[in-house]
Amino acid sequence: MTRIVSFIIQKGGCGKTTTTVNTASYLSRQGYRVLAVDLDPQGNLTQHFGYDSESLDLTLLDLFQDNTRFDDVVLRRSESLHILPNNLASAAEEIPLFHTISREYLLRDVLFPVKNNYDYILIDCPPNLGLFSINALAASTDFIMVISPEFFPMKAIKPLYETYKMVRQKLNHSLQFRGVLMAMCDFRTRHSQEILKILQKNFPHKLFRAYIRTNVTLKEASAYGVPIFEYDEHSAGAFDYQNFVEEFLRDDDRNIRKREYYQRRFESLPVEEQEEIMLFAQRNLSSYNQSRLDLQNNNQALQEALLIERNKIIEKLFPYRASAMVEDWKK
Ligand SMILES: Nc1ncnc2c1ncn2[C@@H]1O[C@H](COP(=O)(O)OP(=O)(O)O)[C@@H](O)[C@H]1O
Ligand SMILES: [Mg+2]
Repeated sequence: MTRIVSFIIQKGGCGKTTTTVNTASYLSRQGYRVLAVDLDPQGNLTQHFGYDSESLDLTLLDLFQDNTRFDDVVLRRSESLHILPNNLASAAEEIPLFHTISREYLLRDVLFPVKNNYDYILIDCPPNLGLFSINALAASTDFIMVISPEFFPMKAIKPLYETYKMVRQKLNHSLQFRGVLMAMCDFRTRHSQEILKILQKNFPHKLFRAYIRTNVTLKEASAYGVPIFEYDEHSAGAFDYQNFVEEFLRDDDRNIRKREYYQRRFESLPVEEQEEIMLFAQRNLSSYNQSRLDLQNNNQALQEALLIERNKIIEKLFPYRASAMVEDWKK
């Protein structure tokens, strides 16, 4: 089943777009088929993927208005990473859309015929709880709140939670609250530490353990128009986003199958090759900023990071194909 995940908070500058872009990029590099949806008329996601949003002839808005076909709008950045772009033209059009029938389901209806072509559809929401954000929640299977641990973003949580309850009751019964991701964190300040405590208390089971540190390479990558994994794979930003997506994937069936596949592939190799791979994995690991490993249960986190590095190498040697992978391997 396709997972449709909204990254949402009705406040700008919390890291939603950066999170959507880098999550989409990481998942597609892992062999998943991904569609990233730019639901913000500012077109930041479109730009972060390197497109000049204002020069596009067709956008998501044309699909909402039934002017054109999906295939004519979607941008194919790579075989496994597609983008539904947006630009400022649609900002003015939100109001007229208010009068269309089933206006809350515009996005759901656009995605319905194509969703089986993707493993993940990720939606970057605008910084308000207007019609577009409601459309995102009505179309999603899951949503993740993205907040920076500061005073004003915190105030956005309660109204968003109320909106979630309303959408679940009236528009989308199966919508799941997947969790809270802290992005743009600087825990050196006492203020942030206090906010962290509040979040831990209020979301004991919903707060992702992984968090995204404030890191200038993430800003540079967005200005450069590429995901962090293409800009600097060994930056702290890449490390943090990898951690987040791996945690996000952990309870996904398909990912569990994929990890088993890597394990079996690894075990099927001669011992010398296994050792060589582990050596490479360790070398990759050492180039990361290890500071945050010290913050957690050291050994467990380190073993997990090592496994991820190992699996990346196996992926390069024996690429995983999202759909037929398990069957192929059994043959
Ligand atoms: N962890 C981070 N460290 C430093 N800069 C970041 C980080 N995350 C995002 N940014 C930058 O902050 C700005 C706002 O981030 P963005 O993802 O666009 O937030 P939102 O979509 O919630 O408005 C962008 O310029 C982006 O490059
Ligand atoms: Mg944004």
